[in-house]
Amino acid sequence: MRERSVVAEQYATTDRLTQRIGIWGPGPDGIDPVIALRDAVIALEPHRVVEMGCGTGLLAAQVCRALPECDYLATDLSPAMVTATVATGATVRAMVASADTLPVADGWADVVIAAWMLYHVPDLDAVIAEAARVLTPGGTFFAVTNGDEHLATLLADAGSGPVRTQFSAENGAAVLGRRFSQVHRQDIRTEACFTDHAAATAYLATVDPDLAAGLPWFDGPRRDAGFTTIFTATGPLPMPGRGPQ
Ligand SMILES: C[S@@+](CC[C@H](N)C(=O)[O-])C[C@H]1O[C@@H](n2cnc3c(N)ncnc32)[C@H](O)[C@@H]1O
Repeated sequence: MRERSVVAEQYATTDRLTQRIGIWGPGPDGIDPVIALRDAVIALEPHRVVEMGCGTGLLAAQVCRALPECDYLATDLSPAMVTATVATGATVRAMVASADTLPVADGWADVVIAAWMLYHVPDLDAVIAEAARVLTPGGTFFAVTNGDEHLATLLADAGSGPVRTQFSAENGAAVLGRRFSQVHRQDIRTEACFTDHAAATAYLATVDPDLAAGLPWFDGPRRDAGFTTIFTATGPLPMPGRGPQ
């Protein structure tokens, strides 16, 4: 987990996120986690969705186009991300909000989504509790994150160990199990494609400039394996001291 100010700087504009998203594709199983998440959300035909940390609104736009009647509230701490989400032109409501204080009533949403963002939040349990608070009793929480081995080969070449986070493929089920009675997982192998050394260093620089400086020269393109898990949590448990929800 990084300081809130570092996260804010990282996402002050959409540039770095857009650059990072662009290098990813399906791995050997041919499954793209963004598409798998989108299809899982659409299959539930939710009436009300809240997304935490919506980024540029790619998922929100796709779900809203498939489900035009859905009331989809996309939230992000970064005003630039909210502006980008509005600019998708989809029928999505977008708002600046911290994931631990969502602007909706208890039990409002059929679906809550946190895609690649729970590793950033300063108080992980507070955010998971907030997801449980805003869900209907029969609602579904989708939480997507990467595994410890994600991009491990590129990081090793740049002189770094695996990135270990507070919410990962390895620890995510235990974290969610504190607030949800059932947690299922879908593990997906992905692949990053860097056209050349400059592309790989540019990617690393969006994460940490020191990593970029540590990547030795290589000729031509390179591919590195990624590892993502989609957690599906249901059965929100009562908040301690608040009785049944
Ligand atoms: C890695 S990006 C993922 C964006 C998007 N979910 C996606 O999959 O493309 C993380 C996003 O979470 C947002 N974020 C970070 N901390 C947050 C918090 N505490 N509350 C709400 N959003 C947050 C960032 O501004 C950023 O847009």
